[in-house]
Amino acid sequence: MPLTVVVGGWFGDEGKGKVVSYLGLVDKASICVRTGSINAGHTVNYGGRYWKLRIVPSCFINKLTRLMIAPGALLKIDVLFREIEETGSRGRIWVDANTGIIEDKHVESERSNEYLMKVIGSTGQGVGAAMIDRVLRVLRTARDFPELRDLITDVSREVNEELDRDGNVIIEGTQGTFLSLYHGTYPFVTSRDTTAAGIISEVGISPRLVSDIILVFKAYVTRVGAGELPGELSMDEVVTRGWAERGTVTGRPRRAAPFNIDLARRAIMLNRPTQIAITKFDALFPSIRGRRRWDDLPVEARRWIESVSEVLKVPVTLVGTGEDSMDMIDMRREVVGP
Ligand code: IMP
Ligand code: MG
Repeated sequence: MPLTVVVGGWFGDEGKGKVVSYLGLVDKASICVRTGSINAGHTVNYGGRYWKLRIVPSCFINKLTRLMIAPGALLKIDVLFREIEETGSRGRIWVDANTGIIEDKHVESERSNEYLMKVIGSTGQGVGAAMIDRVLRVLRTARDFPELRDLITDVSREVNEELDRDGNVIIEGTQGTFLSLYHGTYPFVTSRDTTAAGIISEVGISPRLVSDIILVFKAYVTRVGAGELPGELSMDEVVTRGWAERGTVTGRPRRAAPFNIDLARRAIMLNRPTQIAITKFDALFPSIRGRRRWDDLPVEARRWIESVSEVLKVPVTLVGTGEDSMDMIDMRREVVGP
């Protein structure tokens, strides 16, 4: 259990924020590292409050967890400071000296790029434009900004040392497998590799140190922006099924399709997870809302989960049944042992 990587199995918005916040609390994470950038919105509901996060790690609800931003991540300074205040994480959050900094010029350049905005459906947060500068080696990083001086640490060293002490580290991936720059539905993808391998590369961790990869599938598939979505339903049908959602960052309506086993198989191949988390299971079986024990699920719901485990040959160990981080059925002890 010491190093757990949480990866999205679809096109983002699978509920990684919920899974990461749950694991951070229950597994008493000592460090939680956020990868990716501010185009990804992670939602955390806990104790009757909710937060939309674009850079602060979703483990912040555990006040004992040290929060870190990966060297391969990119942040915008105003977004970081706003979220530090909203989450009360001042004093326990760190940024790597190499973390990329998105400036206003990157946002402007992206928003005036018709191809990105109209054809690809970019979120327009400047992430791709900043990545261009990173590759050209002209992007400024956290070390270049005096206002970040007190937050800077060596994130890969901190994580490696924590693992040597047998501490529990969670790495929070962003977006989903099929938005990967290399393995997704190119060119309708984001500007980074969103698979497990890409996520650990952003942190600076050897693949040998990974103990668990948890692949998160929402109980149905959603996508914002352009690109193929197999089995896509009409918006009327999406609303009828109660699957209507809006993007956390952009507010755009999300397209939706039923759980897709072929897509899931490919996500399994690309990430080789040790476990699967299913989120929003109450969207398929409303009567299970808020249940926290496997035995409290009706037989049809249990069969659905069991058949996913069987077909994908990876155990489903976590099942989200409601919005709160703690609305989770956790079968890790039963399925994989203590
Ligand atoms: P960009 O990475 O903001 O340029 O967006 C490129 C594509 O990835 C667009 O289709 C976006 O809607 C999608 N995308 C980027 N980040 C997210 C996310 O966090 N959730 C869902 N879709 C995303
Ligand atoms: Mg999201």
